[in-house]
Amino acid sequence: MKAIEYLQYGEAAVLQLNEVTKPSPKPNEVLIRNHASTVTAADIMMRNGKPLIGRLYLGLNKPSRTILGFEFAGEVVEVGTEVTLFKPGDKVFGGTTTLGCYAEYVCVSEHDVITTMPSNISYQEAAPVSGSAITVLNFLKGLANIQANQKVLINGASGALGTYAVQIAKHYGAVVTGVCSTGNVEMVKALGADQVIDYTREDFTKNGVQYDIIFDTVGKRTFGECKNSLSQDGIYLSSVIDFSLLMHMIWTSIFGKKSQIFLNRDASSERTFGLFSGN
Ligand SMILES: NC(=O)c1ccc[n+]([C@@H]2O[C@H](COP(=O)([O-])OP(=O)(O)OC[C@H]3O[C@@H](n4cnc5c(N)ncnc54)[C@H](OP(=O)(O)O)[C@@H]3O)[C@@H](O)[C@H]2O)c1
Repeated sequence: MKAIEYLQYGEAAVLQLNEVTKPSPKPNEVLIRNHASTVTAADIMMRNGKPLIGRLYLGLNKPSRTILGFEFAGEVVEVGTEVTLFKPGDKVFGGTTTLGCYAEYVCVSEHDVITTMPSNISYQEAAPVSGSAITVLNFLKGLANIQANQKVLINGASGALGTYAVQIAKHYGAVVTGVCSTGNVEMVKALGADQVIDYTREDFTKNGVQYDIIFDTVGKRTFGECKNSLSQDGIYLSSVIDFSLLMHMIWTSIFGKKSQIFLNRDASSERTFGLFSGN
Protein backbone atom coordinates (compact mmCIF):
# COMPACT_ATOMS: atom_id res chain seq x y z
CA MET A 1 0.00 0.00 0.00
CA LYS A 2 1.01 3.64 -0.29
CA ALA A 3 1.90 5.59 2.85
CA ILE A 4 3.51 8.86 3.79
CA GLU A 5 6.54 8.00 5.90
CA TYR A 6 9.15 9.98 7.80
CA LEU A 7 12.42 8.20 8.46
CA GLN A 8 14.08 11.14 10.22
CA TYR A 9 12.95 14.21 12.16
CA GLY A 10 12.74 17.52 10.30
CA GLU A 11 10.74 19.93 8.12
CA ALA A 12 8.00 18.81 5.75
CA ALA A 13 10.57 17.68 3.17
CA VAL A 14 11.31 14.59 5.31
CA LEU A 15 7.88 13.22 4.35
CA GLN A 16 8.08 10.62 1.56
CA LEU A 17 5.44 8.76 -0.41
CA ASN A 18 6.52 5.13 -0.11
CA GLU A 19 5.24 1.65 -0.89
CA VAL A 20 4.99 -0.26 2.42
CA THR A 21 3.54 -3.56 3.61
CA LYS A 22 -0.22 -3.52 4.07
CA PRO A 23 -1.04 -4.30 7.72
CA SER A 24 -3.05 -7.39 8.72
CA PRO A 25 -5.56 -7.19 11.53
CA LYS A 26 -4.81 -8.93 14.85
CA PRO A 27 -7.74 -10.87 16.37
CA ASN A 28 -9.22 -7.76 18.03
CA GLU A 29 -8.52 -5.35 15.15
CA VAL A 30 -10.32 -4.09 12.06
CA LEU A 31 -8.53 -3.23 8.82
CA ILE A 32 -9.74 0.10 7.44
CA ARG A 33 -9.33 1.42 3.92
CA ASN A 34 -8.58 4.97 4.95
CA HIS A 35 -10.17 7.82 3.00
CA ALA A 36 -9.23 10.83 5.15
CA SER A 37 -6.83 11.80 7.93
CA THR A 38 -5.68 15.03 9.52
CA VAL A 39 -2.50 17.07 9.78
CA THR A 40 -2.51 18.56 13.27
CA ALA A 41 -0.14 20.72 15.28
CA ALA A 42 0.73 17.55 17.21
CA ASP A 43 1.71 15.74 13.97
CA ILE A 44 3.99 18.62 13.06
CA MET A 45 5.67 18.55 16.48
CA MET A 46 6.21 14.80 16.14
CA ARG A 47 7.57 15.20 12.61
CA ASN A 48 10.04 17.80 13.89
CA GLY A 49 10.85 15.71 16.96
CA LYS A 50 10.43 18.87 19.04
CA PRO A 51 10.29 19.53 21.92
CA LEU A 52 13.16 17.10 22.40
CA ILE A 53 11.56 15.59 25.50
CA GLY A 54 8.97 14.02 23.17
CA ARG A 55 11.69 11.84 21.66
CA LEU A 56 11.70 9.80 24.85
CA TYR A 57 8.70 7.99 23.42
CA LEU A 58 8.92 8.89 19.71
CA GLY A 59 12.47 7.51 19.37
CA LEU A 60 15.70 9.18 20.45
CA ASN A 61 17.59 9.56 17.14
CA LYS A 62 14.89 8.74 14.62
CA PRO A 63 11.18 8.02 14.75
CA SER A 64 10.35 4.49 15.86
CA ARG A 65 6.95 4.64 14.14
CA THR A 66 7.50 5.93 10.64
CA ILE A 67 3.90 6.68 9.67
CA LEU A 68 2.21 9.63 11.39
CA GLY A 69 -1.51 10.38 11.66
CA PHE A 70 -3.83 9.91 14.64
CA GLU A 71 -7.18 10.20 12.92
CA PHE A 72 -8.94 8.19 10.23
CA ALA A 73 -12.23 7.92 8.40
CA GLY A 74 -12.84 5.05 6.02
CA GLU A 75 -14.40 1.71 5.35
CA VAL A 76 -13.83 -1.57 7.20
CA VAL A 77 -12.49 -4.13 4.72
CA GLU A 78 -11.49 -6.98 7.03
CA VAL A 79 -12.01 -7.90 10.69
CA GLY A 80 -9.97 -10.00 13.12
CA THR A 81 -11.32 -13.29 14.44
CA GLU A 82 -12.47 -11.81 17.77
CA VAL A 83 -14.10 -8.63 16.45
CA THR A 84 -17.80 -8.36 17.28
CA LEU A 85 -18.59 -4.66 16.93
CA PHE A 86 -17.78 -4.08 13.23
CA LYS A 87 -18.08 -5.88 9.91
CA PRO A 88 -16.69 -5.33 6.40
CA GLY A 89 -18.48 -2.49 4.66
CA ASP A 90 -19.03 -0.40 7.81
CA LYS A 91 -18.05 3.24 7.40
CA VAL A 92 -16.11 4.20 10.50
CA PHE A 93 -14.13 7.08 11.96
CA GLY A 94 -11.97 7.66 15.00
CA GLY A 95 -8.47 8.07 16.31
CA THR A 96 -5.68 5.68 17.20
CA THR A 97 -2.85 6.30 19.62
CA THR A 98 -0.68 3.89 17.64
CA LEU A 99 -0.61 6.36 14.71
CA GLY A 100 -0.26 5.12 11.12
CA CYS A 101 -3.19 6.97 9.54
CA TYR A 102 -1.16 8.63 6.75
CA ALA A 103 -1.66 5.45 4.79
CA GLU A 104 -4.14 3.73 2.51
CA TYR A 105 -4.88 1.11 5.17
CA VAL A 106 -4.72 1.18 8.94
CA CYS A 107 -5.46 -1.46 11.61
CA VAL A 108 -7.30 -0.32 14.70
CA SER A 109 -8.45 -2.25 17.78
CA GLU A 110 -12.22 -2.39 17.98
CA HIS A 111 -11.75 -1.12 21.56
CA ASP A 112 -9.82 1.95 20.45
CA VAL A 113 -11.61 5.21 19.61
CA ILE A 114 -13.72 4.02 16.68
CA THR A 115 -17.39 4.17 15.80
CA THR A 116 -19.65 4.10 12.75
CA MET A 117 -20.09 7.31 10.78
CA PRO A 118 -23.36 9.23 10.71
CA SER A 119 -24.79 8.97 7.19
CA ASN A 120 -24.92 12.73 6.67
CA ILE A 121 -21.21 13.53 6.94
CA SER A 122 -18.32 12.94 4.58
CA TYR A 123 -15.03 11.17 5.32
CA GLN A 124 -13.31 14.55 5.28
CA GLU A 125 -15.74 15.89 7.86
CA ALA A 126 -15.53 12.81 10.09
CA ALA A 127 -11.74 12.45 10.29
CA PRO A 128 -11.02 15.59 12.39
CA VAL A 129 -13.68 14.95 15.03
CA SER A 130 -12.27 12.39 17.43
CA GLY A 131 -8.71 13.30 18.43
CA SER A 132 -9.09 16.87 19.62
CA ALA A 133 -12.51 16.33 21.20
CA ILE A 134 -11.36 13.34 23.26
CA THR A 135 -8.13 15.04 24.27
CA VAL A 136 -10.14 18.01 25.55
CA LEU A 137 -12.63 15.76 27.34
CA ASN A 138 -9.75 14.02 29.13
CA PHE A 139 -8.38 17.35 30.30
CA LEU A 140 -11.57 19.11 31.31
CA LYS A 141 -13.59 16.22 32.72
CA GLY A 142 -11.06 13.47 33.35
CA LEU A 143 -8.37 15.56 35.02
CA ALA A 144 -9.94 18.85 36.14
CA ASN A 145 -13.43 17.42 36.82
CA ILE A 146 -15.08 20.53 35.43
CA GLN A 147 -18.33 21.53 37.19
CA ALA A 148 -21.30 23.73 36.29
CA ASN A 149 -20.86 27.44 37.00
CA GLN A 150 -17.08 27.22 37.28
CA LYS A 151 -15.22 30.04 35.59
CA VAL A 152 -13.12 28.53 32.83
CA LEU A 153 -10.67 30.30 30.51
CA ILE A 154 -9.63 28.64 27.25
CA ASN A 155 -6.42 30.06 25.78
CA GLY A 156 -6.20 29.33 22.06
CA ALA A 157 -9.99 29.07 21.77
CA SER A 158 -9.95 29.20 17.97
CA GLY A 159 -7.67 26.18 17.47
CA ALA A 160 -8.46 22.49 17.02
CA LEU A 161 -8.33 21.79 20.76
CA GLY A 162 -9.67 25.21 21.73
CA THR A 163 -12.86 25.09 19.67
CA TYR A 164 -13.77 21.77 21.32
CA ALA A 165 -12.71 23.09 24.74
CA VAL A 166 -15.14 26.00 24.48
CA GLN A 167 -18.02 23.73 23.47
CA ILE A 168 -17.27 20.96 26.00
CA ALA A 169 -16.86 23.46 28.87
CA LYS A 170 -20.22 25.01 27.92
CA HIS A 171 -21.75 21.54 27.75
CA TYR A 172 -20.78 21.04 31.41
CA GLY A 173 -22.37 24.38 32.35
CA ALA A 174 -19.20 26.38 32.91
CA VAL A 175 -18.96 30.12 32.38
CA VAL A 176 -16.46 30.25 29.55
CA THR A 177 -13.99 32.89 28.44
CA GLY A 178 -12.22 32.22 25.15
CA VAL A 179 -8.93 33.86 24.17
CA CYS A 180 -8.05 34.24 20.47
CA SER A 181 -6.94 36.79 17.86
CA THR A 182 -9.15 39.52 16.40
CA GLY A 183 -10.25 37.62 13.30
CA ASN A 184 -11.59 34.69 15.33
CA VAL A 185 -13.54 36.58 18.01
CA GLU A 186 -16.92 36.17 16.30
CA MET A 187 -16.32 32.47 15.59
CA VAL A 188 -15.46 31.77 19.24
CA LYS A 189 -18.57 33.68 20.37
CA ALA A 190 -20.63 31.59 17.95
CA LEU A 191 -19.26 28.42 19.59
CA GLY A 192 -20.90 29.56 22.83
CA ALA A 193 -18.19 31.43 24.76
CA ASP A 194 -19.74 33.83 27.29
CA GLN A 195 -16.86 36.22 26.85
CA VAL A 196 -14.04 36.49 24.33
CA ILE A 197 -10.71 38.21 24.93
CA ASP A 198 -8.69 39.29 21.90
CA TYR A 199 -5.12 38.57 22.95
CA THR A 200 -3.74 41.22 20.57
CA ARG A 201 -5.59 43.87 22.63
CA GLU A 202 -5.81 42.52 26.16
CA ASP A 203 -3.64 40.30 28.35
CA PHE A 204 -5.95 38.09 30.42
CA THR A 205 -3.22 37.53 33.01
CA LYS A 206 -3.25 41.25 33.82
CA ASN A 207 -6.97 42.09 34.01
CA GLY A 208 -7.48 41.00 37.63
CA VAL A 209 -10.10 38.31 36.81
CA GLN A 210 -9.65 34.86 38.39
CA TYR A 211 -10.70 31.50 36.97
CA ASP A 212 -11.26 28.04 38.42
CA ILE A 213 -9.66 26.42 35.39
CA ILE A 214 -7.24 27.94 32.88
CA PHE A 215 -6.71 25.57 29.97
CA ASP A 216 -3.82 26.69 27.76
CA THR A 217 -4.54 24.60 24.69
CA VAL A 218 -1.63 26.11 22.74
CA GLY A 219 1.20 26.32 25.27
CA LYS A 220 1.52 30.08 24.96
CA ARG A 221 1.16 31.06 28.65
CA THR A 222 3.15 29.52 31.49
CA PHE A 223 1.81 28.45 34.86
CA GLY A 224 3.83 31.30 36.41
CA GLU A 225 2.11 33.87 34.17
CA CYS A 226 -1.34 32.45 34.95
CA LYS A 227 -0.93 31.82 38.67
CA ASN A 228 -2.46 35.11 39.82
CA SER A 229 -5.43 34.56 37.49
CA LEU A 230 -6.31 31.28 39.23
CA SER A 231 -8.78 31.10 42.09
CA GLN A 232 -7.55 29.62 45.36
CA ASP A 233 -7.94 25.99 44.29
CA GLY A 234 -7.63 26.84 40.62
CA ILE A 235 -6.19 24.41 38.09
CA TYR A 236 -3.87 25.24 35.20
CA LEU A 237 -3.99 22.75 32.35
CA SER A 238 -1.57 22.62 29.45
CA SER A 239 -1.64 20.38 26.41
CA VAL A 240 1.95 21.30 25.57
CA ILE A 241 4.76 19.90 27.69
CA ASP A 242 8.21 21.40 27.87
CA PHE A 243 11.09 21.16 30.27
CA SER A 244 10.19 24.26 32.28
CA LEU A 245 6.59 23.04 32.73
CA LEU A 246 7.92 19.73 34.02
CA MET A 247 10.19 21.53 36.50
CA HIS A 248 7.28 23.76 37.61
CA MET A 249 5.10 20.70 38.18
CA ILE A 250 7.72 19.14 40.44
CA TRP A 251 8.06 22.45 42.31
CA THR A 252 4.32 23.02 42.80
CA SER A 253 3.78 19.41 43.84
CA ILE A 254 6.09 20.14 46.79
CA PHE A 255 5.39 23.79 47.59
CA GLY A 256 2.33 24.95 45.62
CA LYS A 257 -1.35 25.42 46.44
CA LYS A 258 -2.63 25.78 42.91
CA SER A 259 -2.46 22.88 40.47
CA GLN A 260 -1.01 22.35 37.05
CA ILE A 261 -1.67 19.41 34.82
CA PHE A 262 -0.21 18.14 31.58
CA LEU A 263 -1.72 15.21 29.81
CA ASN A 264 -0.73 13.35 26.70
CA ARG A 265 -1.72 10.40 24.65
CA ASP A 266 0.86 7.75 25.27
CA ALA A 267 1.59 6.56 21.77
CA SER A 268 3.69 3.64 22.97
CA SER A 269 1.18 1.94 25.26
CA GLU A 270 -2.23 2.92 23.92
CA ARG A 271 -3.00 4.56 27.25
CA THR A 272 -3.63 8.11 28.25
CA PHE A 273 -1.51 9.40 31.08
CA GLY A 274 -1.57 12.57 33.06
CA LEU A 275 0.85 14.33 35.32
CA PHE A 276 -0.82 16.20 38.12
CA SER A 277 0.87 18.35 40.68
CA GLY A 278 -0.09 20.96 43.22
CA ASN A 279 -2.62 21.37 46.03
N1 LIG B 1 -1.41 16.72 24.89
C1 LIG B 1 -2.12 16.20 23.89
O1 LIG B 1 -2.66 15.08 23.95
C2 LIG B 1 -2.29 17.02 22.66
C3 LIG B 1 -3.22 16.63 21.70
C4 LIG B 1 -3.38 17.44 20.58
C5 LIG B 1 -2.60 18.60 20.49
N2 LIG B 1 -1.69 18.90 21.42
C6 LIG B 1 -0.87 20.13 21.35
O2 LIG B 1 -1.72 21.24 21.61
C7 LIG B 1 -1.28 22.35 20.85
C8 LIG B 1 -2.47 22.97 20.10
O3 LIG B 1 -2.93 22.07 19.12
P1 LIG B 1 -4.10 22.48 18.14
O4 LIG B 1 -4.26 21.30 17.23
O5 LIG B 1 -5.29 22.98 18.88
O6 LIG B 1 -3.42 23.69 17.35
P2 LIG B 1 -4.04 24.60 16.18
O7 LIG B 1 -5.33 24.07 15.67
O8 LIG B 1 -2.92 24.85 15.23
O9 LIG B 1 -4.39 25.97 16.93
C9 LIG B 1 -3.42 26.89 17.23
C10 LIG B 1 -4.16 28.11 17.78
O10 LIG B 1 -3.21 28.87 18.51
C11 LIG B 1 -3.75 30.16 18.62
N3 LIG B 1 -2.74 31.09 19.08
C12 LIG B 1 -1.59 31.43 18.45
N4 LIG B 1 -0.93 32.33 19.22
C13 LIG B 1 -1.67 32.52 20.34
C14 LIG B 1 -1.50 33.31 21.51
N5 LIG B 1 -0.43 34.08 21.69
N6 LIG B 1 -2.45 33.27 22.47
C15 LIG B 1 -3.54 32.48 22.32
N7 LIG B 1 -3.78 31.72 21.23
C16 LIG B 1 -2.83 31.73 20.25
C17 LIG B 1 -4.28 30.44 17.24
O11 LIG B 1 -5.36 31.31 17.39
P3 LIG B 1 -5.53 32.64 16.49
O12 LIG B 1 -5.50 32.15 15.06
O13 LIG B 1 -6.87 33.16 16.90
O14 LIG B 1 -4.37 33.49 16.81
C18 LIG B 1 -4.73 29.05 16.75
O15 LIG B 1 -6.14 28.94 16.74
C19 LIG B 1 -0.16 21.86 19.93
O16 LIG B 1 1.07 22.24 20.50
C20 LIG B 1 -0.32 20.36 19.95
O17 LIG B 1 0.90 19.68 19.79
C21 LIG B 1 -1.54 18.16 22.51
